Amino acid sequence: MVSKLIRIGCVVFTSLLFWGCGGDEPEVKKIELPKGNAVRGKEIYGNTCAMCHGPDGNADTPVGKRLEVKKLTDAGRMSAFSDEDIVNTVQNGKGKMPGFGKKLSPQELADTIEFVRGLSGK
Ligand code: HEC
Repeated sequence: MVSKLIRIGCVVFTSLLFWGCGGDEPEVKKIELPKGNAVRGKEIYGNTCAMCHGPDGNADTPVGKRLEVKKLTDAGRMSAFSDEDIVNTVQNGKGKMPGFGKKLSPQELADTIEFVRGLSGK
């Protein structure tokens, strides 16, 4: 009687175990960005990024030249960056670019990235 209960317990336990594991994706830490809006992104970019990167991303501004700001229109470079890379650059800075920390919300980050992607088409 007891052994039968144990056997049933095992079956239930094993199926729960499999059920619990089924379809699990390998866990990757990803920043969940909402869907970006390029029109709002253009405004944020204009207020936050354009003085260095230029309104059109060409970095053709006095500050852009002095700091050797990278062009955001370079499709070859931009296609190599994931959204996460850009979030990371914006939050933590890169070289002479200052980090913005948590100043931009996830929605603002997504909007800005959507606009920045449009500059290079990538
Ligand atoms: C004070 C000037 C300044 C501001 C403001 C600024 N950046 Fe930058 N940014 C730079 C510089 C300088 C680099 C080059 C860093 C390096 O690689 O040394 C850079 C690099 C980047 C890169 C990587 C490009 C590449 O090809 O390596 C991205 C993406 C970027 N900036 C996006 C942004 C966004 C989006 C904003 C606005 C939220 C912003 N930046 C605001 C100066 C600035």
